[in-house]
Amino acid sequence: EKGNFEHYMLKEIFEQPTTIFDCMRGRLMANKGLVKVGGIREYVDQLANAKRIIIIACGTSLHAGMVAKYLFEEVCRVTVEVEYASEFRYRNPVIRDGDVVIAISQSGETADTLVAIEKAKEMGAIILGICNVVGSSIPRTSHAGAYTHAGAEIGVASTKAFTAQLTVLYLIALQIAKEKGTMENERFRRILNELDSIPKKVQKILDNSYIAQSLASLYLDAKSMIYLGRGYNFPIALEGALKMKEISYIHAEGYPAAEMKHGPIALIDDEMPVMFIATKDATYEKIVSNIQEVKARKGKVIAIVTEGDDAVKNLADHVIEIPEVDEILTPLLSVIPLQLFAYYTGVLRGCNVDQPRNLAKSVTVE
Ligand code: F6R
Repeated sequence: EKGNFEHYMLKEIFEQPTTIFDCMRGRLMANKGLVKVGGIREYVDQLANAKRIIIIACGTSLHAGMVAKYLFEEVCRVTVEVEYASEFRYRNPVIRDGDVVIAISQSGETADTLVAIEKAKEMGAIILGICNVVGSSIPRTSHAGAYTHAGAEIGVASTKAFTAQLTVLYLIALQIAKEKGTMENERFRRILNELDSIPKKVQKILDNSYIAQSLASLYLDAKSMIYLGRGYNFPIALEGALKMKEISYIHAEGYPAAEMKHGPIALIDDEMPVMFIATKDATYEKIVSNIQEVKARKGKVIAIVTEGDDAVKNLADHVIEIPEVDEILTPLLSVIPLQLFAYYTGVLRGCNVDQPRNLAKSVTVE
């Protein structure tokens, strides 16, 4: 049921404080310094001792996997590869003893992801599934895994399932980091507390959804858009662009911000909106200079910034503020305005946002 919302997509975007909370329920006990994902109980050792983690997914789920690469490498000190399921399954991939494969899928039915894990399983890998639909094919094929508990996602564009996937990945990464002793205890406790307060911060962004709405009305006639981010927010740039393409049919591409000068910068003129994710993190100074490069070419800059930021506010044409949070958790917040921006742009352009043309909720054909 859509309730008071005009579309399922909007309802699902607004459910995120609840779905993220539900996903952490019984798994995160921040006040006790505990994090435990029950579903992977029997594979904690394998994960902690894995020489390599290979993440396999498609679309939005792949973007969650890309965030997890930064995360697992930083907090668990393990090599992570992220791969499109459709590429993995048709290559002749190398699987070694001690490799762990994590498949991420909202539906649990994506054909390419399913076949890819069947192949990896035959080759001897341990398969963990992170899925939303209980009892679907991918969890049934996996050795173990964790559900995202986001509830049914009806809108074709994935929103609440994405933030729930990220949440599960944070929980698993933190549990493994604790197990391995790869994270300083004080930081570990702080991140647990910050994760605990994420639903509240997501709510705060949603309370200001009118900002994304008003920006949508300014840019709804754009022919094309560029999304740029670095580090943890590079995959979020890809995700923001994917949402925009799907929902509004505006051509949008995401890049790591530094790649701009290797090609995409040629596209920038006074009609090109460029969405920057420019939160206060390790790459902040670099992003600020990327914004200057776009402004020097008269591009229109929208920037997602940390509350209270002034430097970017002075440079950008528009900013959307998000609450301050440890850098590793920013994706859970920075993606929200991008979902809203895509949604409102699609609605204003008269698109069928819940069922975009040519798309299906679960891609069971290759
Ligand atoms: C984008 C979207 C798709 C899916 C992709 C994978 O909004 O929904 O890109 O993320 O088709 O689907 P699942 O996660 O069901 O394997």
